[in-house]
Amino acid sequence: MSKVTRADFDKYLMGVYCPAPFVAVKGSGSRFWDDAGKEYVDFGGGIAVNVVGHCHPEIVSALEEQAHKLWHISNYMCTEPAITLAKHLVESTFADKVFFANSGGEANEAALKLARRYAFEKFGKEKSQIISFYNSFHGRTLFDVTVGGQAKYCEGFGPLPGDIVHADFNDLEQLKSLISKEKTCAVIMEPIQGEGGILPATEEFIKGVRQLCDENDALLIFDEVQTGFGRTGCLYAYQHYQVEPDILTSAKGLGAGIAIGAMMAKDKVASIFKPGLHGTTFGSNPLATSVGCKSFELVNRPEFLKDVNVKADLFRKHYAELNAKYDCFKEVRGIGLMIGAELKDETLLKKITSECLNQGVFVLTAGHSVIRTVPALNITTDDINEGFARFDKALSVVFGK
Ligand SMILES: Cc1ncc(COP(=O)(O)O)c(C=O)c1O
Repeated sequence: MSKVTRADFDKYLMGVYCPAPFVAVKGSGSRFWDDAGKEYVDFGGGIAVNVVGHCHPEIVSALEEQAHKLWHISNYMCTEPAITLAKHLVESTFADKVFFANSGGEANEAALKLARRYAFEKFGKEKSQIISFYNSFHGRTLFDVTVGGQAKYCEGFGPLPGDIVHADFNDLEQLKSLISKEKTCAVIMEPIQGEGGILPATEEFIKGVRQLCDENDALLIFDEVQTGFGRTGCLYAYQHYQVEPDILTSAKGLGAGIAIGAMMAKDKVASIFKPGLHGTTFGSNPLATSVGCKSFELVNRPEFLKDVNVKADLFRKHYAELNAKYDCFKEVRGIGLMIGAELKDETLLKKITSECLNQGVFVLTAGHSVIRTVPALNITTDDINEGFARFDKALSVVFGK
């Protein structure tokens, strides 16, 4: 491969991202390296994707093994890895059936289409309203951005899909005023709003939403693209609340770094999808689903999931120490290894994340004022301690202390 530079990124790629000022070249566990050989502690986990870190040997083996067997054959055939992964997901969740997509956004697109079609067939075409929440994020298809609760992602892309309304998150009264038996086909929510700023739904709210959906014959869709796959210490976050959705979407950690999404549903809903009603060329492909099977095997073990909260406690301890020293966080929130630290002074967000990179630790942002850490779920104690030592140095530069 010929040598390319960060400047070539701006020359050859469309400008929808503003990547760091280097080219990332390799990763191992929770560390990665740039093209100048500099090493970074990774608290971003590929945006909550690399659940077992970079290049986990068992994931690499699963990929290699499948690469020598069958990569892609189309959905005219079924393959062992897709069936096995679907069986794992069904046996460990509320769902009876799975549809595989290639991303979280696609999984949500499929969920929203399924919900609309379900309501159309069971109740008629008037029941098409989708209720979502302000500040939510569900992906980048036109349907997803319209359903998502952030206007900036749909401005200028209209005409947008219709009959979509929004309520304030954690405000049951507002939802009550919008939902109706005649019109509402589905309510979609993230159990913890991720991109919006790591804002957990209250237990009362989640239970109330379920009840309102039941009373109004509306489907409840949990978007667990970010909260799912062990991130909060349960396989899926809904399992903390004893509230089951009708449809759930998963992606990110499911593939541990390979592109895959899943939309899961109970039989009464899933049975609406008949041959030809929905589909994708690459969904269910054996390469992605075989990696998904290995990712599932590694993550869905009680010891592994329990350890997520042990690591999360260490993160929180470090955040508390940083706050004691710099008095910079208004609140540190989240569940498990989905942690957001809201800054008192949001104008410092960019400065802090850039200085973190300078010091060799990669942290993400969420919303306009939150530092987000969503590392690999198997991040080691040494990596956590080293990452926070670098984070501390970054804050000492920013605050001049
Ligand atoms: C909750 C949620 N839903 C959907 C998506 C979209 O997933 P993808 O980028 O894989 O399309 C994201 C991505 O950040 C997400 O956090």
